[in-house]
Amino acid sequence: MFLKIKNKMTEKATAYLSGDTRKITTYSLQTMKQRGEKISMLTAYDFSMATVIDNAGIDIILVGDSASNVMIGNATTLPITVEQMIYHGKSVMNAVKRAMVVIDMPFGSYQGNPYEAVANAVKIMKETQADCLKLEGGKEIIESIKAILNAGIPIMGHLGLMPQSINKYGSYGLRAKDESEANQLIEDVRLLQEVGCCSVVLEKIPAELAKKVASELTIPVIGIGAGSGVDGQVLVMQDMLGLNKGFSPKFLRRYANLYDVVTESVQQYVRDIKAVDFPSEEESY
Ligand code: KIV
Repeated sequence: MFLKIKNKMTEKATAYLSGDTRKITTYSLQTMKQRGEKISMLTAYDFSMATVIDNAGIDIILVGDSASNVMIGNATTLPITVEQMIYHGKSVMNAVKRAMVVIDMPFGSYQGNPYEAVANAVKIMKETQADCLKLEGGKEIIESIKAILNAGIPIMGHLGLMPQSINKYGSYGLRAKDESEANQLIEDVRLLQEVGCCSVVLEKIPAELAKKVASELTIPVIGIGAGSGVDGQVLVMQDMLGLNKGFSPKFLRRYANLYDVVTESVQQYVRDIKAVDFPSEEESY
């Protein structure tokens, strides 16, 4: 009996592999949570990779402000601008047919007054035609969140480790490990749900706390470094594909070693050119 139920869950969870090409929306996420199907989410910042991961069946593509680190080479997410996020957002939107596309509002674009926040949110939505925006923070930015939601724009919250606040924390260590920060997180996440956020990312917090939050909330909770008791998982694509050799946090699972694959391919290409082996006659006109 248990096995039958388990097999049924797996069938549902792999519906995308059997050609279900229906667009993922905020409604689909809600349905996934209700039926216990885990949500898959990955970052992408450009047309080529977004095409691959959309066709591979990812549920949500996050145009993360981690583009600041992995695409531009900045030390933090703080320098990336609204215009740069729009550039990456458009590139991804040009590729995606099925996944829900969420774009991070960059540092400084929503923490001021709510009018500026709405203006920036509307600009990003108009110019990219994305499906949803993600903002870091709880009660300290709640007026901006409400104003953006009032404009009809769905919001994914982001609590726990919030990289845009790295200068306040001073480290990328585990968050909410003490009771007062954990209580604050619970208060904030309840508030995000109450005002109408469609989901929330919890980054680098104890698994028990994340599980408790996910079981209390009716909106989907997506974790990164937050254990398996949440409704879905997100990773930065460059990290999970092994392009970022120096980054090995405990929560990261590497599914490929693209750094070595690309290095070996490029070295072979160089050798072939030097040896006048490439192009061959068959590769010439
Ligand atoms: O910008 C990003 O990639 C993110 C994920 C780490 C959740 O916010």
